[in-house]
Amino acid sequence: MYNIALIPGDGIGPEIIKEGKKVIDAASCRYGIKINWTEYPFGAEHYLKTGELLPDAALKEMEAMDAVYLGAVGDPRVKPGILEKEILLKARFYFDQYINLRPIKLYKGVPCPLKDKNPEDINFYVVRENTEDFYIGIGGRFKGVEQEDNLEVLRELYKTKIKVNFNLEQEEELAYQIGLISRPGAQRVIKYAFELAKKKGMNRVTSVDKANVLTNIYGLWRDVFEEISTQYPDIETEFSFVDAITMWFVRKPEWFKVVVTPNMFGDIITDLGAMIQGGLGIAAGGNINPEGVSMFEPIHGSAPKYKGKSIANPIATILAGAMMLDCLGEVKAAKVIEDAVEKVLSEGKVRSHDLGGDSSTEQVGDEVVEKLKLSL
Ligand code: IPM
Ligand code: MN
Repeated sequence: MYNIALIPGDGIGPEIIKEGKKVIDAASCRYGIKINWTEYPFGAEHYLKTGELLPDAALKEMEAMDAVYLGAVGDPRVKPGILEKEILLKARFYFDQYINLRPIKLYKGVPCPLKDKNPEDINFYVVRENTEDFYIGIGGRFKGVEQEDNLEVLRELYKTKIKVNFNLEQEEELAYQIGLISRPGAQRVIKYAFELAKKKGMNRVTSVDKANVLTNIYGLWRDVFEEISTQYPDIETEFSFVDAITMWFVRKPEWFKVVVTPNMFGDIITDLGAMIQGGLGIAAGGNINPEGVSMFEPIHGSAPKYKGKSIANPIATILAGAMMLDCLGEVKAAKVIEDAVEKVLSEGKVRSHDLGGDSSTEQVGDEVVEKLKLSL
């Protein structure tokens, strides 16, 4: 028996999460797994009505649960950053979900935008650090001279480097944001990446950074990567700069096995990863704390313009559900879901709009359940 928090969220969130839950329930039923779902209303609608985002009391409740299953947050009626930071990022940080695991896998039957690339060529994992880097939320934005202390320091730093003149007295603006990497923070996620490679029988781990420019934070990241890699002599290692890896994801995706990356670069390269695996409609992710509460979600957003139209692809959410079961130790139930998805995609009879079909969100969910039942 598992207790799982369900946060459908905004936009297409409720529609896709409904299908994900349906599929998880069908697979669980077969394996005698009982899931006790607790649904939470958090998202734009709830915020606009009550002013509440993700209250501590709810986080406390979820802390006693086994996992969180999330649709998507984001709504044009709310200024960018509020829902993202106060719901999604708040949960990732609160539960210390330091791993963001994002499989990049091209399933058979899914159109790939890369010429001459097949499912054998695109099958790897991105392990994104999920609690540090530029996501820690430390920074400032200044206009005028109210916050003199910090400003003087910044002004001096800036003057030594940059030729452009700015004059805060004349209301010109300045903003900065700090990225932070800690040794233990890098160690735990890099270690996880190597363990994942070992578990999956993958013999290469690629580290992503921009250590040629951001020498402090990514210099430390590199040092830690090198140090951890010595504990895995059978696994080949390499460094790639983030700009270069975007090129290699397109040119030679078959090269990659496990890619480990700091938070922000991980955010960027996994949208590219989603494209080469056939689109955001397929790409799933898990925010994982191996010792705590993990949260699973599609990597796409709330797609407000498709809200209520029943055209969104629920596959990413369904696959995130499979990842959740896998993480809970329900490996067989996870596998039947993935196999069922694989069959639906390769058969191609039922396909959502993003994949060139005209099936509804619900029809895709139902078809996955059908395939799942057949295989049991
Ligand atoms: C993602 C999203 C989030 C991120 C946003 C919504 C905060 O883009 O999960 O990739 O930047 O991590
Ligand atoms: Mn993103």
